[in-house]
Amino acid sequence: KEIFLKDYKLPYYYFDTVDLKFSLGEEKTFVSSKISVIPRVEGSSAPLVLNGQDLNLVSAKVNEKELKDGDYLLDSRHLTLPSPPSSVFTLEIVTEIYPQKNTSLEGLYKSSGNFCTQCEAEGFRKITYYQDRPDIMARYTCRIEADKALYPVLLSNGNLVEQGDLEDDRHYALWEDPFKKPCYLFALVAGKLESRDDSFITRSGRKVSLRIWTPSQDLPKTGHAMYALKAAMKWDEDVFGLEYDLDLFNIVAVPDFNMGAMENKSLNIFNSKLVLASPETATDADYAAILGVIGHEYFHNWTGNRVTCRDWFQLSLKEGLTVFRDQEFSSDMGSRTVKRISDVSKLRIYQYPQDAGPMAHPVRPHSYIKMDNFYTVTVYEKGAEVVRMYKTLLGSQGFRKGMDLYFQRHDGQAVTCEDFFAAMRDANDAEFSNFLLWYSQAGTPMVKVTSSYNAEAHTFSLKFCQEVPPTPGQPVKEPMFIPVSVGLLDSTGKDIPLSSVHHEGTLQSIAKDGQPVYSTVLRVTKKEEEFVFADVHERPIPSLLRGFSAPIRLESDLADSDLFFLLAHDSDEFNRWEAGQVLARKLMLTLVADFRQKKPLVLDPKFVHGLGSILRDPSLDKEFIAKAITLPGEGEIMDMMDVADPDAVYAVRVFIRKQIAQELKGDLISTVENNRSSDVYVFNHDNMARRALKNTALVYLAALDDPECTALAMHEYQTAANMTEQFAALAAIAQNPTKTREEVLADFYSKWQHNSLVVNKWFALQATSDIPGNVENVRNLLNHPAFDLRNPNKVYSLIGGFCRSPVNFHTKDGSGYKFLGEVVVQLDKINPQVASRMVSAFSRWRRYDKTRQNLAKAQLEMIMSTNGLSENVFEIASKSLAA
Ligand code: ARG
Ligand code: ZN
Repeated sequence: KEIFLKDYKLPYYYFDTVDLKFSLGEEKTFVSSKISVIPRVEGSSAPLVLNGQDLNLVSAKVNEKELKDGDYLLDSRHLTLPSPPSSVFTLEIVTEIYPQKNTSLEGLYKSSGNFCTQCEAEGFRKITYYQDRPDIMARYTCRIEADKALYPVLLSNGNLVEQGDLEDDRHYALWEDPFKKPCYLFALVAGKLESRDDSFITRSGRKVSLRIWTPSQDLPKTGHAMYALKAAMKWDEDVFGLEYDLDLFNIVAVPDFNMGAMENKSLNIFNSKLVLASPETATDADYAAILGVIGHEYFHNWTGNRVTCRDWFQLSLKEGLTVFRDQEFSSDMGSRTVKRISDVSKLRIYQYPQDAGPMAHPVRPHSYIKMDNFYTVTVYEKGAEVVRMYKTLLGSQGFRKGMDLYFQRHDGQAVTCEDFFAAMRDANDAEFSNFLLWYSQAGTPMVKVTSSYNAEAHTFSLKFCQEVPPTPGQPVKEPMFIPVSVGLLDSTGKDIPLSSVHHEGTLQSIAKDGQPVYSTVLRVTKKEEEFVFADVHERPIPSLLRGFSAPIRLESDLADSDLFFLLAHDSDEFNRWEAGQVLARKLMLTLVADFRQKKPLVLDPKFVHGLGSILRDPSLDKEFIAKAITLPGEGEIMDMMDVADPDAVYAVRVFIRKQIAQELKGDLISTVENNRSSDVYVFNHDNMARRALKNTALVYLAALDDPECTALAMHEYQTAANMTEQFAALAAIAQNPTKTREEVLADFYSKWQHNSLVVNKWFALQATSDIPGNVENVRNLLNHPAFDLRNPNKVYSLIGGFCRSPVNFHTKDGSGYKFLGEVVVQLDKINPQVASRMVSAFSRWRRYDKTRQNLAKAQLEMIMSTNGLSENVFEIASKSLAA
């Protein structure tokens, strides 16, 4: 059933307090809930409809009176009271559930012998009958009873108010959460766990106990997560003035988890890959992800929990904002430019294709069948870009004022994206024209810029022309409000001071109080619009969309020589990287065309020269260099073709990489040699940057597959003192289908077979491999003793990994598609959320040639014809076929 934003109605009943009791058992678990219900309008007699799924109703009472058969209606998804009391009443419900059989990992389930919950978005209805919607905010207590030996630790939200022993070797704990919350933030954990304990003193002097819970053998790996948590708590105070609001903050790591992590009030639950780290077992990327996600979930305490969403269409209200906050946190803890480059790459690689495909939806979707399908890169990553645009337009201080007003107005409420917009606008008296279109129009705006210099008038003009492509259900679009940050470079590469700009007949001054300004934000709001800079005394080279000030595709009339100039000189480091990427994309497209016409491939020496000078520039940040010498991915190039040709793009990318490795071999070897680690692993920007550069150079070199480079990679593999370098060396060697590859892969497995998270990396490395005919290897790995279809991380590594190899997933004989089709059907019976994420790999099937289209379509049709298909997979598969 499809649900629409336009159909939103206020609830007929509010819940004031909810007292839950869990009796956890091996065979069955009983859940009792006692709710005080308040009709929204006194005296109304609307039915009370409760959601429920996979539940066994044991009993229901209203004002202590047991309901009999005719007093309620029960279907597979609802419990309805047709005529409840017309003023405040008490509702008591007992259900029986079977967490040990719950492989969907939604609601209450068991993971490695421990009980845990995942309620967002609509999992609470798998625990008890409830109005499972975020605008129902109540105060909860939770009493947990369980076997004391099997489940010594019993956790829920808020404060522990009572605990004790019971008969039959059981015990209990009673938790009370003083803050009102929607049921998606409810959590319960019971199991054999131990904690790393620490504390944080808030700036107003509250001492907060911090505990990170894992099985005892994993405790040593929680140090980095604890560091990240304390850093996040401090950062939110410093940057947003936001303090933690309880005396206890718990984090639990579980090995079976559908997503990354969950911000349940004071009891965050994490996928263990985003908590556990040691230098020997986790890479720099893992360390960085942990920092970001620990921050993200912690920041939700204000943006999500204290102020929550009115309905699930508003998801980006909390997710876009909280992603923006975690991005800023990671920037402040590391390198701002490098973080920005990573975030923009992620947007381009994952979100742009979504925005151009059958699942394209606005940051605030208009409808959904299964909400879980809308925890997307559009809601999260594009949503974060929308929040970033407020900051770009208002400045740091204006943005902070908007945030302050947002909390002042809405603390304790369930609100909408307009409420956030209004707070930003009102706090700054700002004029935001049609900015709200960013929430309602899907598709990536395409902006063309043409520039011209008038030497007599000393003016420089930028003409913008924008187009938002059609998306499913939205054939025609309005022009958007696009903030374009611009600077102008003179012939020596310095920024020209900007005095004023002509726009629509007025002259606006840019310079502030006589202070020179070198970057300004143009507000592009129309389909076509011109801005003319005054007092420009030489022909400048424009640096456009500095810092990627809007999530658009920009096409400029800059010549290659201008781009090389920007790559060498732009004061905006993001745009230096971007200039290199634009050049690389152009170059790759040209070579792809040559390849398809069977012309010999020749690499432009200017390009190699440009990369060489970046590589040798000692003044540059090493991680920046690593990013700048990395070519755009296959996906980005296929995105720019009329018909995506994975074989051609792959061949060209390999050709360029080998050519660069050949021509810069000496520089690359010394880069590896000069950037080796000292023995101790340190997680800080300088050390990560050094490792990133070394590893990038090593992967280039190993692509040559010559004895010298292979020996070098072997040496790095054998001497590596941390996973970052060990794994990069392994990946470098594994590029080539050689005997050495097989030996090193086997060696790595035997070293790490007892560490499930490292084994996941080993699966992913083989699955993503571009070596010919890899689908067979991946099929075999499905039967590997370490593989488990029930564990989402394993699936994401092996199946998700395989879909990321353009050549193997899109093999012309259709074997890759057939493999995915079969796995999706099997997986859907176990875990629909995970199956649904996997089936998404088919969604862009129309981008390929006819042969591939037919093969992929056949698999989608096969999936659609499967009996008992989940709503999750149905929604993605049917929309993919329809669009
Ligand atoms: N709110 C979580 C986060 O972004 C995501 C949980 C989503 N889970 C789901 N099954 N849809 O931090
Ligand atoms: Zn989130």
